[in-house]
Amino acid sequence: MANHDLVLRGGRVIDGTGAAGFSADIAIDGERITAVTGLPRGSGRRELDVAGLVVAPGFIDVHTHDDRALFVSSDMSAKVSQGVTTVVTGNCGISLAPLTLTRAPPPPLDLIGDERDYCFGRFADYLGALDAHPPALNAACLVGHSSLRVGCMRELDRPASEPEIDAMRARLAEGLEAGAVGLSTGLWYAPANAAPKSEIVALAELLRPAGAVYTTHMRDEAEHVLDSLEESFAVGREADVPVVISHHKVIGKANFGRTRETLPRLRKAVAEQRIGLDAYPYVASSTVLRAFMVPRALKVLVTWSKSRPEMAGRYLREIAAEWKVSEAEACERLQPAGAVYWTMDEADVRRVLAFEHTMVGSDGLPHDLHPHPRLWGTFPRVLGHYCREVGLFPLEEAVRRMTGLPAQRFGLTNRGRIAPGAYADVCVFDPDRVIDRATFEQPATPAAGIAHVLVNGTLVWQDGAHTGARPGRALRRQAMQQEHAA
Ligand code: ZN
Ligand code: CU
Repeated sequence: MANHDLVLRGGRVIDGTGAAGFSADIAIDGERITAVTGLPRGSGRRELDVAGLVVAPGFIDVHTHDDRALFVSSDMSAKVSQGVTTVVTGNCGISLAPLTLTRAPPPPLDLIGDERDYCFGRFADYLGALDAHPPALNAACLVGHSSLRVGCMRELDRPASEPEIDAMRARLAEGLEAGAVGLSTGLWYAPANAAPKSEIVALAELLRPAGAVYTTHMRDEAEHVLDSLEESFAVGREADVPVVISHHKVIGKANFGRTRETLPRLRKAVAEQRIGLDAYPYVASSTVLRAFMVPRALKVLVTWSKSRPEMAGRYLREIAAEWKVSEAEACERLQPAGAVYWTMDEADVRRVLAFEHTMVGSDGLPHDLHPHPRLWGTFPRVLGHYCREVGLFPLEEAVRRMTGLPAQRFGLTNRGRIAPGAYADVCVFDPDRVIDRATFEQPATPAAGIAHVLVNGTLVWQDGAHTGARPGRALRRQAMQQEHAA
């Protein structure tokens, strides 16, 4: 008597709470998990034998720039191939909506699109477009502060005036009303760097009644990283909202080792207010190419260049030598462009990843011609390299940081766990084989060891290949809050 749509049979369940793995069969009906127990053979109209494999909640990539990729790469292979079933978009102050442009977007807004891509004047239009063209996975969407600034201010190199703050508040309110899960800032970047804390608080105040979150690419991740942490915590206290510190790291040789200062400060803050953080498992960062960044990096790899696209994938030093110019001059000639910067110490990266409050976020840049390998490799690298090979944490803990913890931080009700009633967002992987294959040379290489991935009960990745299905949806905050209350 086959009475379930699908049964995953014989796997080891790691449920996302951090609890020890256990053997169970999983029944899925429609979009939900309906049983986690021993099930008689033949109880599924369809059964997948997953003996020897781990059955975990699908991973939640809390830090992405997938706003436009959800449309133009709606199979989302870079993420689905890693077991990711939900992405949080609009990070670092950059969101595709709400903003319409008639001129080239200022960096770093150009990381996610051209002027013609910024075509959603209202956040509701953006989410509606996702409904009309569903991607393979789910998206929870943030409103970017820099996108608000670009839409509401003539000059970006100064604090917003009262009327400009009012205009930004109106746009943010529309975004929250439409279902955005929060606000992000990128205070380090030029479009937002002149914004004082008071401007951020004036916006973040709207988050509290909405039950939304504040995420921040801080003003400084180098010499002044502690000041930036204090500023971020203060925004959280003054606006009374939860804060997520994005891609926590300390950069520049002079600051190597300083996670010994930042992590104890973060631990103290976590005890006093709602603070979260995410990180990606690499010693190199990636963003737009900026000449002032070059001296503090050990090496710089060009990821895209509008003026010299053929230079993507080459080191800046080589390009400068070939052109017989300084690296600063080469930077100028490549503009607009993006780069990977080797700026971190491995010991710091490990310390941040090992910190019990750290979530995983790829910060992948899906439109780069030669992207940082974190786009395709982040989650399997944490599981295979940092968990299995290096032994930073047990597998149950690695899974919790990628599932249950982020679901809780971002209010993703009934996701991030394997339990009856939860959405069937599932990743089935081989714990002995899972590993990232994407490298700095060959960045768009799918990981090994990810067997099956389901989104809302539908297989999107099966036996290591995409099924072509697109069962994802835009996750609206209010709907998730209602489901939480029910
Ligand atoms: Zn960032
Ligand atoms: Cu980012």
